Amino acid sequence: MPDPAAQPHLFVVFGATGDLMQRKLLPALFHLHQQGKFPAGSLILGVARHPFDDASFRGSAASSLVGEKAGPEDAIRAFCDQTLFYQGLAAGGPETYPGLRTRIEQVEAAHGLSGNRIFYLALPLEAFGPTLQGLGTAGLNHGPGWTRVVVEKPFGRDLASAEALNALAHTYFQEKQLYRIDHYLGKETVQNLLVFRFANAFVESDWNRDRVEKVEITVAESLGVEGRANYYETSGALRDMIQNHVTQVLTLVAMEPPAHRTEDEIRDEKVKVLRSIRRIEPGDVVRGQYTRGTVDGVSVPGYREETGVAPDSDTETYLALRLKIPNWRWKDVPFFVRTGKRLPAKSSQVVLTFRAPPVSFFQSESEYELSPDRVTILLQPDEGFEIAFEIKVPGREMRVQTHRMKFHYSDVFGVLPDGYEALIQDVMLGDANLFVRADEVEESWRLYTPILDHPPPVVFYPAGSDGPAAAKRLVEEWGHRWNPE
Ligand SMILES: NC(=O)c1ccc[n+]([C@@H]2O[C@H](COP(=O)([O-])OP(=O)(O)OC[C@H]3O[C@@H](n4cnc5c(N)ncnc54)[C@H](OP(=O)(O)O)[C@@H]3O)[C@@H](O)[C@H]2O)c1
Repeated sequence: MPDPAAQPHLFVVFGATGDLMQRKLLPALFHLHQQGKFPAGSLILGVARHPFDDASFRGSAASSLVGEKAGPEDAIRAFCDQTLFYQGLAAGGPETYPGLRTRIEQVEAAHGLSGNRIFYLALPLEAFGPTLQGLGTAGLNHGPGWTRVVVEKPFGRDLASAEALNALAHTYFQEKQLYRIDHYLGKETVQNLLVFRFANAFVESDWNRDRVEKVEITVAESLGVEGRANYYETSGALRDMIQNHVTQVLTLVAMEPPAHRTEDEIRDEKVKVLRSIRRIEPGDVVRGQYTRGTVDGVSVPGYREETGVAPDSDTETYLALRLKIPNWRWKDVPFFVRTGKRLPAKSSQVVLTFRAPPVSFFQSESEYELSPDRVTILLQPDEGFEIAFEIKVPGREMRVQTHRMKFHYSDVFGVLPDGYEALIQDVMLGDANLFVRADEVEESWRLYTPILDHPPPVVFYPAGSDGPAAAKRLVEEWGHRWNPE
């Protein structure tokens, strides 16, 4: 059923010829349309410098949707023909925006739209500022209806550039018009963190320094740079994963319950976490880079051998860090975070390890060592959670064994929609709960400034391995081990 609050609008995508549009945004928009969640009468205007006309853009979009197996071909064709339009930006300079405004107004007038607009900036970072400025100077920052702007990540390259981009955005737009997107926040399991913690009293009462021994966040990928070396060379694991996706997960794991589920109260609590984190020093960080190796039985090149990567590149493809949050809830609990490419398998999870019981009177009767209880939040590839706890093995002996109780979303709800679908729908509804606020993005960059200013040298790990040995030492120095190793 269409949501009654979602109003017809023009959905304008800058970067309409790019990878994100083809692989994520178009399928998400198509699925919303198929489910009746794309408000009736709404249209999509693709914008980029490439000289398409409406017909060729529709053809290209239809081919990519068919290629992505987004749905039946006739439905795809009808969606493209009925909802898609295209406006070329020529060189993309400021002089092109009045023409864009004219086209927007023409499309709206011809199809009875009342001037509600979403501008989705699926652009490279360097194009965010000029595009926001172009929209503002052409008077497209406020239309006859509401105007919302979605800005992709990365929002800046460091604190100074994020502050400058925020200042520029606020010259033309109010904060409530801005939706800084982090697609991790569209994942059901990430949102379920709030429900898991705050709708289950027994979970929340144990979610603190009295019970939790350590928290680990892992985002592992088996893929390499996959033809995106040009982008990755200017980014690296810290900018690509840690500053945004991983930090978002961290704040949801560590935040206090908000008084209400309003967007500002949740985001206030996330910002408080970021402000509470002790300064991360370069010694708390390991930067790694993969060398030639074997993943899934296939021999793969090292990062410096990939097309488009400098032979002496210093870009990290792996980053591990340790941090502490010395607030009332988490003082002295270590948080260990790691992400990397060309690791043995794709796996993203958060593991909370609980303290061992103060006295273990089973030990003497059992040849098994008690394992600490653990909660694992599975982010991908399977979304769900697992709780590992000790049980007695049936029999006369008091034998103890670890049992894992599992909840996988797919077992109960089938295939989950992509995070982009949920987030695009939120923008259509004007719900900014799952989007990153200006102060939040700046606090996150502030946290990583010492590492960006003084990056430790990269150390190497073979593709297909668990990452550099130094990442193990990072954790061992604080008396712990990665779980799983
Ligand atoms: N791809 C992903 O899976 C993914 C995931 C998460 C976030 N993102 C973010 O999404 C954004 C887009 O990524 P992408 O992978 O789609 O990049 P991409 O494949 O390089 O596409 C960039 C798009 O922007 C247009 N463009 C480039 N420079 C422009 C300029 N100066 N002015 C106007 N348009 C310009 C390009 O078309 P023209 O050259 O024709 O103008 C193209 O349509 C980036 O910020 C990226 O970090 C991407």
